Amino acid sequence: MAVLLSTKASTMEDWRDALLEVDPSLEIRLFPEAGDPAEIEAAVCWTAHDMAELRRYPNLKLLVSMGAGVDHLLRPPGPPPGVPVARLVDERLTQGMTEWVLLNVLRFHRQDPEYRAQQSARIWNELPAPDTARRRIGILGLGALGGDAARALLALGFPVMGWSRRPKSLPGVESFHGDDGLAAMLARSDILVCLLPLTPETRGLLDASRLALLPAGAYLLNSARGGHMVAADVLAALESGRLAGAALDVFEPEPLPPEHPFWTHPKVVLTPHAASITIPRSAAPQVVENIHRARAGLTPLNLVDPAAGY
Ligand code: NAP
Ligand code: GLV
Repeated sequence: MAVLLSTKASTMEDWRDALLEVDPSLEIRLFPEAGDPAEIEAAVCWTAHDMAELRRYPNLKLLVSMGAGVDHLLRPPGPPPGVPVARLVDERLTQGMTEWVLLNVLRFHRQDPEYRAQQSARIWNELPAPDTARRRIGILGLGALGGDAARALLALGFPVMGWSRRPKSLPGVESFHGDDGLAAMLARSDILVCLLPLTPETRGLLDASRLALLPAGAYLLNSARGGHMVAADVLAALESGRLAGAALDVFEPEPLPPEHPFWTHPKVVLTPHAASITIPRSAAPQVVENIHRARAGLTPLNLVDPAAGY
C-alpha cells in the first residue's frame, strides 16, 4: 500500500524525504505518478490537488493537509465520502505564524511606516511614544495559531482580546463569541489580526460593515485566507482612513494578479502567502503517525470536522 504526495514540484521531494526519515518502509508516490490506484491508502495534499481526482483511489483511508488550513480539501466536491481528513498542528508552523504576527503588530505599533517615510525625506522628528498597554489587539480565531499569537502579544504587554466560535477561556485574554461578541471586540481593536479558518461562516467576514466597527485608524493583519476579506472593502477602508494600514499575506486569487491595487498601495505591506510555511521535517512525524493510525483503523490526530469546516 502506498502514500500519494501532491504539492508543488519544488517541495515534493522534501516531503518524501521527511516522511521516509520517520518511516523508511513507506511506499511513496509523487503525483501525478500514482501507479496502481488501488494501492493508494493515504493522500497528503496541498492546495492545487483536485478533490475529484481522489475518487480514483478505491482504498483511500486518509486525507492529510500539508498545512493548518483545510479549505482546499473541503471545497466542492470535497474529499471522497467516508475518508477522514486530518490537518497539521505543528510547533514550528505555529511559531512561524506568531513571528509574522509580532513582526507586523510591532511594525505598525512602533510607527515603522512613518519613520521609514521620514528617513527617506531626511526628517528628524520624534513621533508620540507608542503606548503598548493601550494598544488593544483583537484576534479573530483563538485556535492553535490565534492562541499562540495571543500569548506572545500578552507577554509583550499588549491588551489582547480574541473571538472564537464557542466560548473560550485563555489566561489573560478577553474572549468573545457570537455576532454580538464580534461587534464588541471589533469596536475596541486598534489592531485586528485574522487567524480564522476559511469556512462558509467566515468567508467575507472582513467586509465594509465589520471594518466600519473598528476604531478610526485601526490596523488589519490578515494571514488566514484571502476569502475572509472583501478586497474592495479593505481598499475603501484604507482610502477613508478607517484603516491606517494593513499587513496582508493571503489573497483570492493567489498569486495576486500583478495589476491588483494591493501590490502598490502605500498603506499595505504584502507577503506572498508566506506568513508560515510548513517545514516538512517538522510535520512528518504526525503525518506518519496518522498513516499508521489509518492502517490500524484508528482516529487520526488533528481530525477535521467537515460539518464545521475546520
Ligand atoms: P484552528 O486551531 O482550527 O483554530 C480556528 C479558530 O477559529 C478557533 O478558535 C475557532 O473557534 C475559530 N473559528 C472557526 N470558525 C469560527 C466562526 N464561525 N466564528 C468564530 N470563530 C471561529 O486553526 P489554526 O491552526 O489556528 O489555523 C487558522 C488558519 O490559519 C488556518 O485555517 C489557515 O487558513 C491559516 N493559516 C495561514 C497560514 C499562512 O501562512 N498564511 C499558515 C497556517 C495557517 P473554536 O475555538 O470555538 O473552535
Ligand atoms: C497555510 O496557509 C496553512 O494553512 O498551513
